[in-house]
Amino acid sequence: MDTDRLLRELTDFLRIPSVSTNASHNADCRAAAEWVAGELRRLGCREVQFLASGTHPVVWGVGPEVPGAPTLLIYGHYDVQPPEPLDEWTTPPFEPTVRDGKLFARGAADDKGQVFCLLKAIEERGGKPPVNFRFLIEGEEEYGSRVLFDLLRREPERTRADAVLIADMAYIAPRWPAVYTTLRGLCYAEITVRTAKSDLHSGEVGGAAPNAHEELARLLGRLKTPDGKVHVPGLYAPVKRPSKVELASWKRLPFREAEFLKHRVQAKTLTGLKSYSVLERLWALPTFEIHGITGGFTGDGAKTVIPAEATAKVSLRLVPDQKLKTVERQLAAAVRRLAPKYVQASVKFLHGADPAIVKVTHPAFKLLDQAFREVVGRGTVPARAGGSIPVVPALGKGGAPVILTGIGLPDDRLHAPNEKLDLKQLWDGIKVFRRFYELLGT
Ligand code: BES
Ligand code: MN
Ligand code: MN
Repeated sequence: MDTDRLLRELTDFLRIPSVSTNASHNADCRAAAEWVAGELRRLGCREVQFLASGTHPVVWGVGPEVPGAPTLLIYGHYDVQPPEPLDEWTTPPFEPTVRDGKLFARGAADDKGQVFCLLKAIEERGGKPPVNFRFLIEGEEEYGSRVLFDLLRREPERTRADAVLIADMAYIAPRWPAVYTTLRGLCYAEITVRTAKSDLHSGEVGGAAPNAHEELARLLGRLKTPDGKVHVPGLYAPVKRPSKVELASWKRLPFREAEFLKHRVQAKTLTGLKSYSVLERLWALPTFEIHGITGGFTGDGAKTVIPAEATAKVSLRLVPDQKLKTVERQLAAAVRRLAPKYVQASVKFLHGADPAIVKVTHPAFKLLDQAFREVVGRGTVPARAGGSIPVVPALGKGGAPVILTGIGLPDDRLHAPNEKLDLKQLWDGIKVFRRFYELLGT
């Protein structure tokens, strides 16, 4: 393997600031799509197309025909999350840098580095590919995948395959590769509170006028009880406890709550429903998080104002068998009920996803297990994931098994400053998937 060349190529991909949620990066998203398309052409794809190419095209590819061989659909995303706060990066997010065997850049692990891994595993093999490849590499995963959703609704035959492969996750711990049986869903919303016609002088009317931030803070505070229960009526009704067998299997995973607090969360304590294990809180229970609050005065210096409007960006993670549509209704109703009569409260839904459940019994999982066993010395453990990939349920609709795996590590800092990918994980990963393709083809 010419790792110098591979590193140069991945660096080119990572240099493109393809932040999908920010319209000022539309041209960069297009450039990242072009980069992917170029790679697919190099792999000898018969068809390389931009589908539904509004702003962030879905890159579709059809590999060389291999008569009689199974069809493998590879899904991934070339878009990334915003890199802010910039001053917390040791080296800038779009200037990929290797330190201590780790490649630091936004997208290194989520998901450009992993898409790169799946593609290079084909190229590095040389000769005729062992299976019929199909590719769906999208550019809107990080903000809800709406374009791909609509596309798959119109053209479900795109997902026709013997298996779907997604590398957009991590090992469960160093040296412990995993396959994932569930993903959480997501309901992302803005809650806006208005209390007056316009901002007011906090001396002239302060003491007698309502304050939008105060009302919003109270409302948000009521949406979760101090012990960590989300206070949205009906939310927990469809949530089932994992089976005894599954809970027992989690006890055997290399996960220690104290270590998780000390090395991953790096806070003073863990929060949430104390009567459930941390893994159950991360994987099998819904959440409510506040991402940011705007309104009023947040500039430099001081301004004595009573804000008339305040907005919070929030999201709920959903677990099997919750439904996005139902949760949207439940959240809107809860906000209506919790807001006092004198405030105008509204909820705007930005994007979301249903939770995903994946059975890992199809023979293809055995082959991936074998490939990992041969290359890294340990097979895949089944686990659940706390994160979301919106189109996973749609990709599985045609009946193909969806293989959710990845070559990242739990400390890759996805969505955060100093995101990284360990190069050893990447080189191993290329060998693993090369072997997996080979096994699938025979
Ligand atoms: N790759 C992640 C999803 C992920 C991360 C799954 C870690 C399991 C473990 C993906 O790119 C992601 O971040 N998804 C978003 C989806 C959302 C913006 C619709 C998420 O989970 O926040
Ligand atoms: Mn991802
Ligand atoms: Mn992500």
